[in-house]
Amino acid sequence: MAIQLGDEAPDFTAETTEGTVKLYDYLGDNWGVLFSHPKDFTPVCTTELGAVARLKSEFDKRNTKVLAVSVDPIDSHKNWLGDIEKVNGVKMNYPIIADPDRKVADLYGMIHPKANDTLTVRSVFVIGPDKKVKLTLTYPASTGRNFDEILRVIDSLQLTANYQVATPADWKNGEDVIISGAVSDDEAKTKFPKGWDAKTPYLRVTPQPNK
Ligand code: BEZ
Repeated sequence: MAIQLGDEAPDFTAETTEGTVKLYDYLGDNWGVLFSHPKDFTPVCTTELGAVARLKSEFDKRNTKVLAVSVDPIDSHKNWLGDIEKVNGVKMNYPIIADPDRKVADLYGMIHPKANDTLTVRSVFVIGPDKKVKLTLTYPASTGRNFDEILRVIDSLQLTANYQVATPADWKNGEDVIISGAVSDDEAKTKFPKGWDAKTPYLRVTPQPNK
């Protein structure tokens, strides 16, 4: 059965470009992003891994550890690092898991046989500090991911973990949010002292509470 939101993220120990990693130790009390890519020495993957390296400080700001995986072996990963760095003008700064026996890929359902029965698809799992899965995404091999969107989702997940709010379409950190339907107007007066604009009785918009 596929991993679903709220499931415990399966722990594992794996060889990576930065040595042996045990997922739960690597994450510690941080948030995590585990993302798979299909294959080494391929163009879209080269751009994706570089994009994440470029955004590493943004993940750090959000107390979020990143970890890539593909079914290629460690020597292949290590030989590929130079290309990723040259093409993207970055230094690689997070581990890539080598998963030739598909241990991690199978644990997380990253192989979709109707897309390709040997390669991982482009999966993303955002894992909370409680080790529960907070977001899953699956992209086909031909479509590179937008990692700014992953950061945006993490902003929303971290905000909504701490406040009784939800974030609207296309929301970005700092913009107005929606008061949860579980909060009565009476409670909202104390929880959201900046007030709100009731667009409808169920759509109450308030300034982001932690800004
Ligand atoms: C790519 O990264 O460009 C790629 C990888 C596997 C299949 C197709 C494209």
